[in-house]
Amino acid sequence: VPIEQIRNFSIIAHIDHGKSTLADRLLEYTGAIKHNSGQHQVLDKLQVEKERGITVKAQSASIVYNYNGKPYILNLIDTPGHVDFSSEVSRSLSVCQGVILLVDANDGVQAQTVANFYLAFGKDLKIIPVLNKIDLKQANPDKVCEQLRTLFDIEPDEVLRISAKHGIGIKEVFEKIIKELPHPEVDRTGPFQALIYDSWFDKYRGALSLIYVNSGSAKIGDSISSCHTKKFYEVKTISVLRPEEENVKKIVAGQIGLVGCNVRNIKEAIIGDTLHLTSTPVSPLPGFTPPKSMVFAGIYPSTLSEYTDLRKAIEKLTLNDSAVSVDMDTSPALGQGWRLGFLGLLHLEVFSQRLQQEYGTEPIITAPSVTYLIKLKSTKETEKKGTNELYINNPINFPQSFNITETYEPMILGTIITPDTYLGAIVQLCQERRGVQVQALNIDNDRIMLQYQLPLCEVVLDFHDSLKSLSSGYCSFDYEDYGYQLSNLVKLNILLNSVPCEELSTIVHVSRAQLVGRQMVLKLKDLIPRQMIHIAIQASVNGKILARENIQPYRKDVTAKLYGGDVTRRMKLLAQQSAGKKKMKMIANISVPRNTFIDFLKK
Ligand code: GTP
Repeated sequence: VPIEQIRNFSIIAHIDHGKSTLADRLLEYTGAIKHNSGQHQVLDKLQVEKERGITVKAQSASIVYNYNGKPYILNLIDTPGHVDFSSEVSRSLSVCQGVILLVDANDGVQAQTVANFYLAFGKDLKIIPVLNKIDLKQANPDKVCEQLRTLFDIEPDEVLRISAKHGIGIKEVFEKIIKELPHPEVDRTGPFQALIYDSWFDKYRGALSLIYVNSGSAKIGDSISSCHTKKFYEVKTISVLRPEEENVKKIVAGQIGLVGCNVRNIKEAIIGDTLHLTSTPVSPLPGFTPPKSMVFAGIYPSTLSEYTDLRKAIEKLTLNDSAVSVDMDTSPALGQGWRLGFLGLLHLEVFSQRLQQEYGTEPIITAPSVTYLIKLKSTKETEKKGTNELYINNPINFPQSFNITETYEPMILGTIITPDTYLGAIVQLCQERRGVQVQALNIDNDRIMLQYQLPLCEVVLDFHDSLKSLSSGYCSFDYEDYGYQLSNLVKLNILLNSVPCEELSTIVHVSRAQLVGRQMVLKLKDLIPRQMIHIAIQASVNGKILARENIQPYRKDVTAKLYGGDVTRRMKLLAQQSAGKKKMKMIANISVPRNTFIDFLKK
């Protein structure tokens, strides 16, 4: 079709506001899928997504809609809706000319609505505001229109009112897309130039790249090259997603399609890379900033025999999720493992859930940590390295305090939207987490939007859960990266009978050291079994003891429960007890079972 009959758009919405339902309805309306064909929410492909009801990996569909006797191709680019995935949203939006801003008419504007609006607004995209779920009795579209006006300067008469579930207003959505969104500005006669905006691995066809063609065209058999790696490939397959794959021979500017070149290594299908015909080089399209790991966790097999399975599972999963960074790691207590980096906590949770569901592994996952920046005093060593900056996400690598000049921690800008009844409790929580208020705005007569600058480490643990529980689930939260900030960080050591136990150490803000030290010592007191010797558990910072607990000695007599007599049974039990001891790690003559570490590190 002519370029004037193409529209590329995304639906952006807060979680559960009905994005997948609307996408299904759009596909159904044009006959791309059958009504109630059991293909509900066809764009959410992964099992975890289904279970959690969240979209993780962006999927796309090309919809054909006839309007005024002409066929239009509407390319719907699916975007993930959750806080952790804003880099994926941003990536998807860069191939769109407009978005549908979908808002639940009962729930109103929520934190991700705000975050997603600004992502689209920042990219200069045309925004079509749509209220969903107007069929609900509690729906209050007028009030939500008021919120849209206050926050985004959107006039109520621009806002569509629909019910995705009941198919009300769907035709109007199509017409607005066609009338209001600009068509892509491309040059079909120019040299082939395409952007890879997603990629995944297919068992049979190798790496598949989802591309947006910015100029020219490519067909099966062409030799195409990557601007980034300079490697070249023969195009083997091209398909469009309707949403089922439909093979085509050629793809032209303005279109979106899936290209396969029989590449066995997914790392060669780089998201953000530009493709061109090998014979006609072009300059690269503005790429994307690569996804940045914000949250790290150690992953270890729960038994040694699971190591190989776990390694394979991690390799397979990271094949399709280039946002996960992988490093080897060893822990004296937990053995050989990995330190993985994630976009955020939800990303970590989704990943570990997939490890379990899809690969049947039950790994030990340590409490998440963030990356700190440490500036060191100049020494011969820093001169040799050419930098005195050190980024660490593992407390084991925290330098001695006398080598440090400054410490910095990663910050976020958090957006919270809440009914005003919970305001007091939320402000208190943010203050406890060392937050600094940036903005407080009434968005209607009983709802408030708060923005806080918060340390990421205070958010990764349970901030979101705490917010939800103190607001009975009525408040929403989203965050964006806010750079590093000078902060007084220290390493909190745990000592068992005066011997430091590295894998139990953590990095904390100096104001939290006392409290966290106290909590850790108490927890360990519960977890470490009594032994034949006295045990002192201490928490210390820079050699100063902040907290201490004792475990009194106790003779564990495994034979006590037997009434005398049987010598062989007695011997057998004693042998069992000594074998059990081998599984323990000895620290200063104290045997700490592996399970203690596991329970402690898991949180
Ligand atoms: P994520 O993919 O997790 O971001 O969620 P989503 O925005 O795709 O939401 P989804 O389409 O899964 O819808 C969430 C819930 O709202 C589902 O239970 C839908 O059935 C329901 N829902 C969607 N649209 C409507 C509507 O128009 N009216 C009513 N009453 N319910 C709706």
